[in-house]
Amino acid sequence: MDFNQLESYFTDLNRLKKQYEKDIVISTGLEIDFISGFEQDTISFLNTYGMYLDDSILSVHFLPFQNTYTCIDYSKSTFLEFIKHVGSQEAVYKLYYKTLMDSITSPLGIYKPKRIGHITLVHKFQHALPEKVDDHKEIISILSEMKNQQLQLDVNSAGLAKPYCFESYPAPPYIQLAKQLEVPVVFGSDAHNAEDLHQFYKELKLYL
Ligand SMILES: [Fe+2]
Repeated sequence: MDFNQLESYFTDLNRLKKQYEKDIVISTGLEIDFISGFEQDTISFLNTYGMYLDDSILSVHFLPFQNTYTCIDYSKSTFLEFIKHVGSQEAVYKLYYKTLMDSITSPLGIYKPKRIGHITLVHKFQHALPEKVDDHKEIISILSEMKNQQLQLDVNSAGLAKPYCFESYPAPPYIQLAKQLEVPVVFGSDAHNAEDLHQFYKELKLYL
């Protein structure tokens, strides 16, 4: 979202909350980017706007490498290019889970989001890659640390709609593991338009 749109986003939501108060509960929410090296900016943003939020998610999309940032979910070609740049698929996965772990452990103030978004976003183009990276241990460490930090898991169905992913973020066995660990799980369809709302909810409902 363009920063200039933020104030009107809050104003519009407040108007809609009043208009539909008898029909549905509307929460004001944001997906907050965790960008390594920009923690102070994130804290000051949250300290300014966090009080207006009913809900928020903290997510990693940008990975730092040699003084630049790459948005790993932007396109297949960007992701493949990034692998070449970093050296290997495995190295990209390592960098992703390290950054994700930093997002979980990073103190971002009292308005730090309580939920971590799409924890296996690095799988988005997995079927376009020559080999499968075994990240089982990393996902377990991530879920364990989320438990320690009392954070919720975003059970995100958008990956099921992605042509090179074919799985939810995270895949069902890890949703089940989160439940065993008593990490609260919250379904989200990561809809970027109204038609995608609740996409694949039926498929994931049995794991929630
Ligand atoms: Fe996201």
